[in-house]
Amino acid sequence: MEKYVIKGGTPLVGEVEIGGAKNAALAILAAATMSSETVYIDNMPDEADTNVMLQAMSSIGVLIERTGRHSVKINASQITNHTIENDYIKKIRASYYLIGALLGKYKTAQVVLPGGCNIGLRPIDQHIKGFTALGANVSIEHGMIDAKADKLVGNHIYLDVVSVGATINIMMAAVMAEGKTIIENAAKEPHVVDFANFLNSMGANIKGAGTDVIRIRGVERLHGTEYTIIPDQIEAGTFMVAAAATMGDVTVKNVIPKHLESISAKLVEMGCQVQESDDAVRVVATKRLQKTNVKTLPYPGFPTDMQPQITVALGLASGVSLVTESIFENRFKYVDELTRMGANIKVEGSTAIIDGIDKYTGADISAPDLRAGAALVIAGLTAEGFTTVEDIRYIERGYEEFDAKLRELGAQITKVDSDRELQKFKLRYA
Ligand code: UD1
Repeated sequence: MEKYVIKGGTPLVGEVEIGGAKNAALAILAAATMSSETVYIDNMPDEADTNVMLQAMSSIGVLIERTGRHSVKINASQITNHTIENDYIKKIRASYYLIGALLGKYKTAQVVLPGGCNIGLRPIDQHIKGFTALGANVSIEHGMIDAKADKLVGNHIYLDVVSVGATINIMMAAVMAEGKTIIENAAKEPHVVDFANFLNSMGANIKGAGTDVIRIRGVERLHGTEYTIIPDQIEAGTFMVAAAATMGDVTVKNVIPKHLESISAKLVEMGCQVQESDDAVRVVATKRLQKTNVKTLPYPGFPTDMQPQITVALGLASGVSLVTESIFENRFKYVDELTRMGANIKVEGSTAIIDGIDKYTGADISAPDLRAGAALVIAGLTAEGFTTVEDIRYIERGYEEFDAKLRELGAQITKVDSDRELQKFKLRYA
């Protein structure tokens, strides 16, 4: 089994290029099946999750041609069926986007129930409520979601919780429905806006994405397009926090600084310097980090997908910090692993009480999920001695070339597949 081995203690210094947003890409790929014309997508991250989505699409007859590592040509004019049973797709949360896309265009979809990271209950009741309001019959049987409609008709839908997935999925089902749909209490995340821009580039009529109220007027067809995905807010944030935690100086390039403001603000409170330019953010940490409090919230609040990373950094800050998770109820599982590296963190309900220590010490740990996995790598980068991180398949779901990008910044990290390789690394950096 592949794992990362890290020799900690080197500040990250230099520049890193951020790739396309995974969570935007997953929605955009699924929606590309809604046109019978060719769709070209650029800045697509080459990660396990996006590759699984492409495989699932190909399993129903969508023609997919990789025109480059980060670009793909998609043609869905020859779709042969609307049932996605592909074994891998269960593992990714965003498989549910294929329901909205196929239902929206073909008025029928059968998709295996989504999996994804185990970070708490992840119901899809709001997605189903939206599909039903538009006129679909939705049932769940034998682990599959079955959605069908004679026709879809626009409606006024009020989401009970702010959900990224439900907002995007309802947009897909509504975009070719008859008449007007209004989604209230919609998610405002950057990838919701990017997704609406993508659909509009195919001829959809969507207004208000990025606000609480999204208005969609149904169109008869969606045409082909060429579209470039926005940079990944969470990949960028992860490198920013890694710079801070290692006392480094890193410029994250190819980003939209506005999307990173909640993260930048926390790093400034923690004593870092954060300099923004048009499409880059530089994070410099020259003195010990200071305590602060963080609460995860829907955008523009602090992202839940950055919670483990900021907790790892606060584990090294002077004073007692509080991190409150308000989106997912089971997102502190990694704290046990961090405790084995010396962290002094107590979790009470949805809040982690973090009493900062001077340094972590290397240990053999495993990644419990995608973002927590990245956070534990950051802990390893700061730690005294060697850390090994197992189950890196979780990390590879959402970070392209994570170890290579860290090495470019001076980190001593490599992927090993055997004890021999592990010992070789340890001898080299002893
Ligand atoms: C997406 C992201 C994930 C991120 C999350 C929050 C993708 C593929 N994943 O997940 O990385 O952590 O947004 O920014 O884009 N909820 C319900 N009923 C529903 C749907 C959601 O109660 O039908 C609840 C969830 O349990 C959670 C909250 O709403 O408490 C937000 O979830 P949601 O925004 O839907 O997350 P995902 O779209 O699954």
